[in-house]
Amino acid sequence: MTKLDGKAKTGVSGLDDILGDLTRGRVFLLEGEPGAGKTTIAVQFLLEGEKQGEKSLYITLSETEEELRQSAASHGWTLGPDINVFELIPPESLLDPKQQQSLLYSSDLELGETTQQIFDAVERTRPSRVVLDSLSEIRLLAQSSLRYRRQILAIKHYFARYGATVVMLDDLTAEPADKTVHSVAHGVIRLEEIAPVYGAERRRIRILKYRGQRYRRGYQDLTITPGGLNVIPRLVASDHRTKFVRTQLSTNIPEFDALLGGGVDTGSSTLVLGPAGTGKSLIVMTFVMAAIARGEKAALFIFDEELGLLFDRMQGLGIELEAERKKGNILLEQIDAAELSPGEFAHKVVKTVDTHRIKTVVIDSMNGYQAAMPEENSLILHLHELLQYLNRQGATTFMTVAQHGLIGDMQAPKNVSMWRIP
Ligand SMILES: Nc1ncnc2c1ncn2[C@@H]1O[C@H](COP(=O)(O)OP(=O)(O)OP(=O)(O)O)[C@@H](O)[C@H]1O
Ligand SMILES: [Mg+2]
Repeated sequence: MTKLDGKAKTGVSGLDDILGDLTRGRVFLLEGEPGAGKTTIAVQFLLEGEKQGEKSLYITLSETEEELRQSAASHGWTLGPDINVFELIPPESLLDPKQQQSLLYSSDLELGETTQQIFDAVERTRPSRVVLDSLSEIRLLAQSSLRYRRQILAIKHYFARYGATVVMLDDLTAEPADKTVHSVAHGVIRLEEIAPVYGAERRRIRILKYRGQRYRRGYQDLTITPGGLNVIPRLVASDHRTKFVRTQLSTNIPEFDALLGGGVDTGSSTLVLGPAGTGKSLIVMTFVMAAIARGEKAALFIFDEELGLLFDRMQGLGIELEAERKKGNILLEQIDAAELSPGEFAHKVVKTVDTHRIKTVVIDSMNGYQAAMPEENSLILHLHELLQYLNRQGATTFMTVAQHGLIGDMQAPKNVSMWRIP
């Protein structure tokens, strides 16, 4: 095997950013419940190796080779000749009930045999990237946690001498949670899936440890779509500081500007409050149209309203929203929040603002944003970070909030005061 320098990229978009690539010649653990996306990451890791002209080996104990190729094909991938798949069939005695009752531990032999088969396959194919899917079968063979640990150590030392970058997958089926491999592995990555009461499940990823490496801490959102797995790094506003000159934005309506003391500052956030039907959207649109008149673009993220209805309503008020959208001056997105996590939403906003150099952002309405993500208790933190990011880019944000109740006793949604608008 030729000596490879540097780090091994995982080939998963976003993951390399939070992880800072995998150190070559080390053993990593990728754990997650069944269906969390371990195999998908592992396959992407090997495909990235193929792209770099590296050889790799996928040792599968849990899925058949056919299953593996099929699920790769569902993403539009084919495993080329440089990716060897080695299907390790479980020893027969494991399936034979008579042998399981035997007092003689035949598994001692099989464990050694299985490990030997792994080493043989490595010698045959000489890969620089190896995936072992999954550890639960090895744990089953080892029977005791002491023997399991010893076996994992043996595997680790073998690969350390050999110099391959290894990703071991664990589907967390051990009871109680087995931390044996955590202490042996160079880095541990965990995948999680949470099912909210309503809407699509939320996937997330966290790096539990990575020896001698800085990485982005905490949970990051994750999506799996045909074409692969995507990690959406959590937005950290303080990572993005830009310099801009703070000016005041006029609405082109002198009386309104006077009321605002000259206009709204660039790089600030404005909350427009009022009961339903009082013209919150209209006020916000005034700023949008003024931005377009200045030759800028605006981005609108609509939560509650049907777009057709919004266009018609605004047209009735003399605002040609649809025409401006067609001209590309307005980037308009209707958000189906049941399908989107707050992290994904923030990512979407940031991407739109960055690629189109947007200076005016509208979120209509905050009630919709909040109602759609009821189980997210860190919603306020997400929002705070997003607003801070936008403000630091010099973008001005407008949000609407519908109040409820009767005139005289008007109430905003409970925690509106908690939205720490920067
Ligand atoms: N082509 C695809 N498009 C979109 N999503 C997919 C596609 N293929 C698989 N998925 C999703 O990816 C999830 C993870 O699949 P994967 O096989 O990587 O999980 P795993 O962690 O290896 O599971 P196991 O422990 O059962 O092996 C599946 O549950 C499925 O929801
Ligand atoms: Mg799998």
